[in-house]
Amino acid sequence: MRQGRKIVPLNLGSNLIGHPTFTFSLSNEAQVFVSEILDDTFSLRLSVDLGPDGSHIASLHGPPDLVELFASLKLQVRCDIVADGYNVLSHDALDAFVASPESKAKLLEALDLREGNKVLDLMSGSGAVSQLLLEYGDKKSMGLALSMCDTHHSQLKRINSKVRERVVDVTVGDARALPYEKESFDAVVLKMGLHEVPQLDQPLVMRNVFRVLKRGGRFIIWQLLPASGVIQDVFTDIVRKTSMLAGCESQAFNRYFPRQDQISWLFKSAGFRGCEEIFQAEFTYSTRASLGAELGGDSSKLEILNNFARDRVPQELRDSLCWRDTGEDISLKIPACIYRTYKPA
Ligand SMILES: C[S@@+](CC[C@H](N)C(=O)[O-])C[C@H]1O[C@@H](n2cnc3c(N)ncnc32)[C@H](O)[C@@H]1O
Repeated sequence: MRQGRKIVPLNLGSNLIGHPTFTFSLSNEAQVFVSEILDDTFSLRLSVDLGPDGSHIASLHGPPDLVELFASLKLQVRCDIVADGYNVLSHDALDAFVASPESKAKLLEALDLREGNKVLDLMSGSGAVSQLLLEYGDKKSMGLALSMCDTHHSQLKRINSKVRERVVDVTVGDARALPYEKESFDAVVLKMGLHEVPQLDQPLVMRNVFRVLKRGGRFIIWQLLPASGVIQDVFTDIVRKTSMLAGCESQAFNRYFPRQDQISWLFKSAGFRGCEEIFQAEFTYSTRASLGAELGGDSSKLEILNNFARDRVPQELRDSLCWRDTGEDISLKIPACIYRTYKPA
């Protein structure tokens, strides 16, 4: 069965958010349809984010026909609503520790900004990239028209007022269905966000970026990119475990760190031309770094995480990951890369 993806506004009441499960009733028509096309290997999942007007936007995963049906009828299926945890998360250790001064300089080099450029800071979070670009613009006396977009209102609320006052727009929007006109931007920058989108949806992000870029526009992505499938699996599992311990269930389900070869495939299949590696450095992932961030200072959670990592990473893989275990902290190294690609002119 083919699988599809659609963002469907369901206008749920805010009191429902955070409940582990929520059951919708199914119309007779939907019942018949579901029984015809669903087999026992398939299920539908729904996650909920805040929309720009404060309404709730539900992301529904399922076969296209079914998703169409649910969108046109008023109702749907039994589904789980999971907590995303961003409202409580103060910061993500992955993000805080990955941005060295050298990598920031490389990001600016890759962007190759010009006076008046329209730039989208996609999955902007609380605005680390936008702040960097504004400071750079000031240093070069160069005006930039900066847009910030993130799916989590709770993240955008953390943007500092000096950045917020100077950007063109701060938009709650999903990278899989970007709320911008086609050919709006000279450049799109996406730092440390793609892995928060499920694997099946990552091509949708690429197609959306392609659509909103002007011809000849550039797309710069900064991402941890495991080198092999085995490393990808263990690293993803450790980070997912961190998200579960932090109560960020949707992240735990969704996280998928693409490999370097998958990035070039994702670019190509969306229509981009070229895949330049601008920078690569070894990022040291540390379980202890999560303690003050996702784990909220709870050392019992850190111990659970450490034990999980010890069980999950086989001895034969440890050398290639530069594994270190001090008892309190486990660290390993993953490539952090900046890639650039272009929409053909
Ligand atoms: C690790 S943070 C990185 C934030 C920022 N780019 C930085 O480097 O500081 C990832 C961000 O991606 C956002 N995000 C996750 N899924 C998204 C989606 N489907 N569309 C837009 N933003 C998303 C999250 O809300 C979060 O703010």
